Amino acid sequence: MSRTYRIAPSLLSADFARLGEEVRAVITAGADWLHFDVMDNHYVPNLTFGPMVCQALRPHSTVPIDVHLMVQPVDALASAFAKAGADLVSFHPDASTHVDRTLQLIRAEGCQAGLVFNPAAPLDVLEWVIDKVDLVLVMSVNPGFGGQGFIDSALRKVERARRLIESSGRDIRLEVDGGIKVDNIRRVADAGADTFVAGSAIFGQPDYGAVIGAMRRALAGA
Ligand code: DX5
Ligand code: ZN
Repeated sequence: MSRTYRIAPSLLSADFARLGEEVRAVITAGADWLHFDVMDNHYVPNLTFGPMVCQALRPHSTVPIDVHLMVQPVDALASAFAKAGADLVSFHPDASTHVDRTLQLIRAEGCQAGLVFNPAAPLDVLEWVIDKVDLVLVMSVNPGFGGQGFIDSALRKVERARRLIESSGRDIRLEVDGGIKVDNIRRVADAGADTFVAGSAIFGQPDYGAVIGAMRRALAGA
């Protein structure tokens, strides 16, 4: 398959005391995107960083910032992250009262818009809004924490999402988030994903470049 694969390290597993350095290090190591996990202690049982941290890191990043909103309500923070320099803003449809409106709002801010699907969430809304979606993000863990195990049913959901994307004829990225490691990334790609979030697998190792390189070799190898 001749897809362009992208690796999006999640800053959730970076050293929060040295975030700027971590951003530079992981980009030097080959990150294609920076994945930015925003948790509000309401939609998910954890609390991370807001738009001010995104704005502070923006000058340190030469790659797109991929904001994953795990917040409720969505709209005000989606706008705030767009203004703070996000390139892509994704949200969980069950966290927004008016999904179509939120997608329009993100695009009107000049960002690409994504929808995120929890392990137990159906892809149904895609049927109605796929013309306004730039990214589909399939969760392979329950959102809230890094370092959890990959939930295998996500592979079937990725296959289904890939079919919906192909039949739309649109250029939509298909990203998977949670429990991705060197030894399972190939299976996730084979199911149809083209963009891979990895937090603990990268930031949990001393040599980020070695992990990203091993992931790319796994993706390249048939
Ligand atoms: C979970 C986050 C993920 C998480 C992935 O709520 O959305 O991005 O950081 O971490 P790993 O790769 O450690 O599962
Ligand atoms: Zn995430």
